Amino acid sequence: MFHQDMIFSHHMPTRIIWGEGSLGRLPEEVAAIKRRCLLVTGRRAARLSGLLERVQECLLSARIESVLFDQVEPNPTVDTIREGVALAQDKKARWVLAVGGGSAMDAAKAIAMMAVNEGEIREFFSGARPGHPPMPVVAVPTTAGTGSEVTPFSVLTDVSECDKFGLAHPNLFPRLAILDPEVTVSMPEQVTVNSGLDVLCHAVEAIFSKKRSDLSDLYARRAIDRLATHLPVSRTEPANLEARSGMQLAAAFAGMAIADTATLVPHALGYPVTVRYDIPHGRATVLLLPAFLERMCDLEVQRPRAAYVGRVLGEEADPPKALRAFIEQLGVAPRLTAYGFQEKDIPMFVQQSLDKKHLGITPGEWGEQQLEDLYRQSL
Ligand SMILES: [Fe+2]
Repeated sequence: MFHQDMIFSHHMPTRIIWGEGSLGRLPEEVAAIKRRCLLVTGRRAARLSGLLERVQECLLSARIESVLFDQVEPNPTVDTIREGVALAQDKKARWVLAVGGGSAMDAAKAIAMMAVNEGEIREFFSGARPGHPPMPVVAVPTTAGTGSEVTPFSVLTDVSECDKFGLAHPNLFPRLAILDPEVTVSMPEQVTVNSGLDVLCHAVEAIFSKKRSDLSDLYARRAIDRLATHLPVSRTEPANLEARSGMQLAAAFAGMAIADTATLVPHALGYPVTVRYDIPHGRATVLLLPAFLERMCDLEVQRPRAAYVGRVLGEEADPPKALRAFIEQLGVAPRLTAYGFQEKDIPMFVQQSLDKKHLGITPGEWGEQQLEDLYRQSL
């Protein structure tokens, strides 16, 4: 029988070019744009690996002028976006090329939106629509994590609020994402693990989201399957291209899933942990995931979904236990207190999470008490 809950929409306008050596396709893919581009990247990694130079050569060979903005820090702030916007406007850039991890891509998207719109970026955190659509974005991800290369989201840090906030706009889907596993092999072990854990959180949260559908489920389940095989190998054998490819696809699949389903309570509660304790996003979020999975196991209708996660991670009968073991196997202590988390921060973090959209799309009841309990069970 059909009812309103069974209506879902799916929108995935990003063209993806995937495979070893696919970066070589960049010049022909962007040649038609012919306008000046703002090249957005982090402060070090792309330059050190030689990737930045390669991309600049690609643009030159396509006769595209570029302006470099290489000031994106991990967890990009509102101030960094302002700097990038000023440069884009001053140099009259007309599109944005992001080369880097989630931080570079999210910064690139926010700059693409704010360079053509009046007003303060904070005004758009609430979901207000800008007057003009963002400039086109092309993404070359160097990590396998965020999935930002295939989502309409940009997540930014507001230090004054000790939290992260998101922009969402259909035109924030990159026009093109080039997924070349060769550019991910230089990722350090900790970046591999932390970004991979973000993929795990996206896939698991998508499976339970109230906005889930059979289509988002296809992506989310495939993402977990691939991640369970390829993340441990990517960590121990960084040059293993099969594992790197598998993780790059897992990240994109999980990204496509959350583009439909959005993220749930673990992401909402993980944001202040990242900002306050400087714990990378994927790691901060995954620390809350086992207790979240326990809650899902308590809900009868969610049990088969939890069992799927448990089965893929090695123990169908006890999904939270399987998840903790999987995290530990990656060298990550699955407890907040292992990272200096202080219990006294819980009430403040709960208060600032109470009106987040994530709560309404998470199955079960999520009031003050339940959020507090989730933190406490993750200590
Ligand atoms: Fe995430």
